[in-house]
Parts: sequence; C-alpha cells; structure tokens
Amino acid sequence: MAVLLEVFERETNLSTEDNNLNFLLIDTMLDYILNFPQKCHHPIENSILKSLVRRDPEKGEIATIIVNEHEKLTNLIIQLADKIARVKLEDPLFREDLVNTVREYRELLLQHMQKEETIFFPAAEEALFQADWDIIETRMRDKGDPVFGREADRQYRALHKVIIEWGGK
Ligand SMILES: [Fe+2]
Repeated sequence: MAVLLEVFERETNLSTEDNNLNFLLIDTMLDYILNFPQKCHHPIENSILKSLVRRDPEKGEIATIIVNEHEKLTNLIIQLADKIARVKLEDPLFREDLVNTVREYRELLLQHMQKEETIFFPAAEEALFQADWDIIETRMRDKGDPVFGREADRQYRALHKVIIEWGGK
C-alpha cells in the first residue's frame, strides 16, 4: 500500500504542472484501493476489534480510534473518486484539491497501518482465542462478497503487482 500510494501521489501531482494524467493507471489504483482495503481489510479488522474489546475491554479506546480512522479513510476515498471525476471533466479547480486529498489519504493510511501493526494486531494476538479467529473467518466467508474470496484475493495481489511495475516506469 505504501508503494502504491506513492505512485498514486506522484501520478496525480503531474496534474498541477498541466500534464496529461494517465487516467487508466489512476482508475486502476482507485479500483484497487476501493476494493481491497475498503471492502476487504477494514471489515475484517473491525470484526477482530469487536472480539478484542469483548476479551479485553481495556482496549476499547484503541478500538474506537481504529474504527473512526476506517470511517475517515472511507470518506476520503469517496472524496478522491469525486475529485478524480471532476479533474477528468477538465475542471482545473480540482487539480490541486485532488493532490491534497491523495496526500491526506496517504498520510492517514500510513500512520493508521503503523498503529495497527504496533498496537492493535499484537493486542489481538495476545487476547483472542483460536475460537475467536475461527468465528471471524467463518463470518467473513459467510458474507458471500466476492472480494472476500481467495480467488479475488489472488486477483487483487496480481493487480497490485501490475500497478507497482507500471507506476515504477
Ligand atoms: Fe485498518
């Protein structure tokens, strides 16, 4: 995600210098962000958070922070999609705005992921029982959403690889 967002920021930055944007690359990245972290990671993490608070109520505060950040990230992604659509319509007023929103999303997501890796995931690993993990996995499978499937997971990993190679050129 860190590399993908770097490519995203660099690509949208071109718009402020009056360059033509590679909308195919931008749309592909937006599709990835919309479908992978938004629909796949955040619901799983929210589910883990619920179990964590049940097992260890003292972790309620960090759980609230993480859930709020997921909501904030979702709002930013909606704004991003809207601004990309406006820049496509050649609305120059939104170019700077788009770059700022990408930067805001990137900064929030990076510090959010760090918080999860250093505080939330270790706390969940310590507090949850195997039965909790089994329930979380079953619940995710029961949703029937294609993005939770293993096939889709593979597809998004492949898409991620393409974006990184493409953007790296
Ligand atoms: Fe998260």
